Amino acid sequence: MPSAKIAPSVLSSDFSQLAAECKRMVEDGADWLHMDVMDGHFVPNITIGAPIVKSLRKHVDTFLDCHLMVTDPDKWVEDFAKAGASMYTFHIEAAGKDSRALIDKIHKLGMRAGVAVKPKTPIDTVFPLADVMDMCLVMTVEPGFGGQKFMGECIEKVKVLREKFPDLDIEVDGGLGLDNIDIAANAGANVIVAGTSIFGSPDPADTISKLRASVGT
Ligand code: DX5
Ligand code: ZN
Repeated sequence: MPSAKIAPSVLSSDFSQLAAECKRMVEDGADWLHMDVMDGHFVPNITIGAPIVKSLRKHVDTFLDCHLMVTDPDKWVEDFAKAGASMYTFHIEAAGKDSRALIDKIHKLGMRAGVAVKPKTPIDTVFPLADVMDMCLVMTVEPGFGGQKFMGECIEKVKVLREKFPDLDIEVDGGLGLDNIDIAANAGANVIVAGTSIFGSPDPADTISKLRASVGT
């Protein structure tokens, strides 16, 4: 299995202090920083876009794991590449049959390509992309907001993916924390997004280190 990565979701940070919040997470042991991009159309919320990633990039050299919850993922690839994004993860529900070409475009612009699935989307929709995608993001809440309750029924998808694709990065996102990390880790997830449980912790460094210990290496 690929190595464990802990990716705090900066959606739960104080946006007025974004650079400082991100630096704090890196000092506390974050491997990646998870950036939730929402367009108010694919999901009922608006968050950040490429200009914020570009500004932040001047302050951190950490891997920026950008999760695009947008209706037209093809439209923003160049902007995010220029901004310094490391991973561009789009939703298969938004890209549909254009997913393979989109992954090719993401790669040509020097980013890693991730494919995300919402809770109600069957996991076999991503199987045809397994030879080109770098990561699959399995949502464990309906996308749109931080702080929601973990949906345990989504974890079966992680198990199926891990059995079929032993070397794939599999990210879980939504409602994860110390109380349920074992469920995701045992199923085979190796990239853990956590917003509320890390930023809301009195000791984020301790929470990150405990999360990583539960996932493995
Ligand atoms: C939800 C986002 C998640 C969310 C995670 O649409 O994709 O990344 O911010 O936050 P928590 O861990 O609070 O559920
Ligand atoms: Zn996310």
